[in-house]
Amino acid sequence: MEFPLTICFKAKNREEEEQDERIYKTYEQLILTLPDSTKYLPPFSSSSMTKFHQHLRCYHGFWFRPEFVLLGAMAAQDHFVPRSSDILICTPPKVGTTWLKALAFATLNRNDQPCRQSLLLSHNPHICVPSLEYNLYGERRLPELTAVPSPRLLSTHIPYQLFPSSWVSSGFKIVYLCRNPKDTFVSYWHFINKITGEESYHDSLDDVFNSFLKGVHLAGPLWDHVLGYWNASLVNPHNVLFMRYEELKSDPFVRLRRLAEFMQCPFSEEEERQGVLEKILDMCSLESMRNLDVNKNGHTIKHSFKFKNDAFFRKGKVGDWVNFLTPEMAERLDQLMEQKLHNCGLSFND
Ligand code: A3P
Repeated sequence: MEFPLTICFKAKNREEEEQDERIYKTYEQLILTLPDSTKYLPPFSSSSMTKFHQHLRCYHGFWFRPEFVLLGAMAAQDHFVPRSSDILICTPPKVGTTWLKALAFATLNRNDQPCRQSLLLSHNPHICVPSLEYNLYGERRLPELTAVPSPRLLSTHIPYQLFPSSWVSSGFKIVYLCRNPKDTFVSYWHFINKITGEESYHDSLDDVFNSFLKGVHLAGPLWDHVLGYWNASLVNPHNVLFMRYEELKSDPFVRLRRLAEFMQCPFSEEEERQGVLEKILDMCSLESMRNLDVNKNGHTIKHSFKFKNDAFFRKGKVGDWVNFLTPEMAERLDQLMEQKLHNCGLSFND
């Protein structure tokens, strides 16, 4: 199998490059007119920070990092042409996206790439399953996705409410993953501390938590993100599979079987007998993934910013929030979620 990212970025001539520059300049100018958060943005590298990088920006009610996410999200909205066979992994940040990407990639490609030969052994899951707004449309040059064979496995943090109507009517499949909001927040807190690298992040946990309660965090508000996909799954259960991190942890076999069925590549009885599910779950486990050289020592480089791949792998524990949030903080977040999700049939307090 050819590796999607190498197919997507072919050399362009001067004219094409200038056209891309003009397109991205327009988005950049639009972003500068959007409401900004005054703080809570980790300084990746002060030398590379410009006015453009300094704040989260609010776009149609959702908050985004301008340079990594919003620029690419806008370009994807305008230029990504979905196929009905596409499979999109959709998540808010820090809910187990990396894990779900690994599971979906390994499952979908198991015939070409049995576990011992999987690309996941040498590439971070975020490279194997590229993000629309980050890896593909966030590069300040439009990718060429037509040569990527079907089914294309892609991902996004873009909220469902921001999907253009052409995406909604395309019939592509969406796998959505969410997680207990308290664990999501704690994971987010650790992540933004970790990715700042040597530079320390100066905002306190309390500050970041208060901001989270206001919905001011990457792809927030969390409740609106979850609600958009939850409602879509109720309207169209054949096209939207709604999953939770906790269910994946407690019932991995059942959820992996369901994921394979949903992606239209169900495991056969023979595969079940041969232990293919066990092998996939084992390869994608937190322990196996984090011990791979690429995830221990590798980086994901984006313009002048460098993410350490190990930042995506921490404890992976359900309920780790008790070690970081006071009972009062937990109560505030629980109540807020309850209030926002009231009467929609979804709850995180069970
Ligand atoms: P914790 O910070 O609670 O440990 P995302 O992938 O959306 O960025 O989410 C990261 C969270 O998923 C982190 O949670 C991380 O440890 C956990 N995670 C990453 N890979 C995992 C895996 N293979 N199995 C289970 N959890 C995983």
